[in-house]
Amino acid sequence: ATTLGASAAQTGRYFGAAIAAGKLGDGAYTGILNREFNSVTPENEMKWDATEPSRGSFNYTNGDRILNQGVSMGAKVRGHALLWHAQQPSWAQSLSGSTLRSAAINHVTQVATHYQGKIYAWDVVNEAFADGSGGGRRDSNLQRTGNDWIEAAFRAARAADPNAKLCYNDYNTDGVNAKSTGVLTMVKDFKARGVPIDCVGFQSHLGTTVPGDYQANLQRFADAGVDVQITELDVAQGGNQANIYATVTKACLAVSRCTGITVWGIRDSDSWRTGENPLLFDSAGNKKAAYTSVLNALNAG
Ligand code: G3I
Repeated sequence: ATTLGASAAQTGRYFGAAIAAGKLGDGAYTGILNREFNSVTPENEMKWDATEPSRGSFNYTNGDRILNQGVSMGAKVRGHALLWHAQQPSWAQSLSGSTLRSAAINHVTQVATHYQGKIYAWDVVNEAFADGSGGGRRDSNLQRTGNDWIEAAFRAARAADPNAKLCYNDYNTDGVNAKSTGVLTMVKDFKARGVPIDCVGFQSHLGTTVPGDYQANLQRFADAGVDVQITELDVAQGGNQANIYATVTKACLAVSRCTGITVWGIRDSDSWRTGENPLLFDSAGNKKAAYTSVLNALNAG
């Protein structure tokens, strides 16, 4: 096939992009979006600060714009992200203890209920593990409410939207390392105790190398009984950019439970990595070598 989405669909997968509501009036942007992708993720519009700017007062205007764009394309919509230590509204940042816990769980319930039946997969919890060699949780206001905050969030999300796949999502978990092993231990514990978890997202914000055990890492999560998804892929520019994109694509195709790939933006000028040109289209919207390598890998699969 000749587009990313259609090529991924040949093996039952999706190929998605993170998109911004504020860019949907840009015809060059939406032209590529409508042509190439069959999944969308809101880059910021479904986060806590966007959806609950004051406590108990919800604003779905921009989140709904992303949802409606996805629906108009016949695309899957990945929800991102119900709970995260970053991009919390200031009112939540000032809470702690049981007050924060109940506000957080109410947030999960309200947002997942608003989008009930419309989201393919939710990032229920984002980036809750610490970097480095410890393999443990990241300190945050949410973590300080008790180690069970993650399972409480997953249970609330399942109750609100029983048909959405519920994911844990993180970065620097793309190879076998202490952090990814910590996440895997949590997944196995959740599975053993019946805590609802369906998928793990591997952000894959990559530099000039890709871990040699990237595919093996995806596979060990799949073997634990969850789907895996590449959720925020972008790759530093350099001689290896196209090769790294191909390696990641092939790794997903080689893991039967890898259900899709999302790139974190469309054109280089849309990326949060300013000046790094980490995406598949240049700032003028032209296909880069990395685009061709991904397309070829999808079609070889
Ligand atoms: O909304 C304000 C806008 O009113 C203001 O004019 C503008 C001026 O700076 O700032 C706008 O907010 C920015 C927002 O993006 C929307 O553009 C924030 O300052 C900025 O911090 C925010 O950055 C986002 C970042 O998450 C925040 O942590 C990036 O767009 C987004 O790509 C990035 O995405 C994260 C994932 O959610 C989780 N994984 C890592 C990934 C990259 O950091």
